[in-house]
Amino acid sequence: MRIIRAKDYEDIGRKTANIIAAQIQLKPDCVLGLATGSSPISTYQNLIRMYESGDLDFSQVRSVNLDEYKGLTPDHDQSYAYFMNENLFKHVNIDHANTNIPSGMAPDGAEEGKRYDELIRSLGGVDLQLLGIGANGHIGFNEPCDEFIKGTHQVTLAESTIKDNARFFESIDDVPRYAYTMGIGSIMSARRVVLVANGVNKAQAVKDCFFGPIKPTSPASILQLHPDFILVADEAALSLVADQL
Ligand code: GLP
Repeated sequence: MRIIRAKDYEDIGRKTANIIAAQIQLKPDCVLGLATGSSPISTYQNLIRMYESGDLDFSQVRSVNLDEYKGLTPDHDQSYAYFMNENLFKHVNIDHANTNIPSGMAPDGAEEGKRYDELIRSLGGVDLQLLGIGANGHIGFNEPCDEFIKGTHQVTLAESTIKDNARFFESIDDVPRYAYTMGIGSIMSARRVVLVANGVNKAQAVKDCFFGPIKPTSPASILQLHPDFILVADEAALSLVADQL
């Protein structure tokens, strides 16, 4: 595990965008694993700036997103399909046919999981997986549970996640209770994993997952075993482990 210390959220965005830009420049048709949530937005903004200044070309990039709420259509303003379009895809020259997100409208989680895992395999796997982290240590929507689930699957969202994400919806009752998420095996199979963490509300998760034991109740902790895992975190997110850096 490598830790890149950033000053603040903006600095995380610049540093992480540089890593992703290097990946695209070295392999223009790379497969990027992409994430939603507020954490990666500054990274996406920096990638958009690089594209606009002519430094980055997304024309051959393929992408697979981590997760999607079950039951939301892609045009729902809280779906992750909508998020990706608003925060990255529509601002760069990525071919929409090369972007992939689990379908929130797929009725059967097992079928959708199988389809998505086959799709990832057919693309040759993920070159660089970008991740945020939930305050409870979740990655994608892999919630704390008693096993690491390998493939794409349906999850029941944790009450704490529903509460955390309610800020994006009109009311907590509008937050979907289920989601589809890429599994821990698919994330661990990515050739490089970059996780962004900012703010003091992530400090406990950073401590538990990256400085504590590896266990499925701290889902991101398994990344300690990844051969090319980079944590990009600001001072606030690292505040509980400052003495161990
Ligand atoms: C969401 C997403 C995750 C994300 C996390 C943190 O539930 N499924 O992929 O990393 O929560 O969100 P945020 O970055 O807004 O704190």
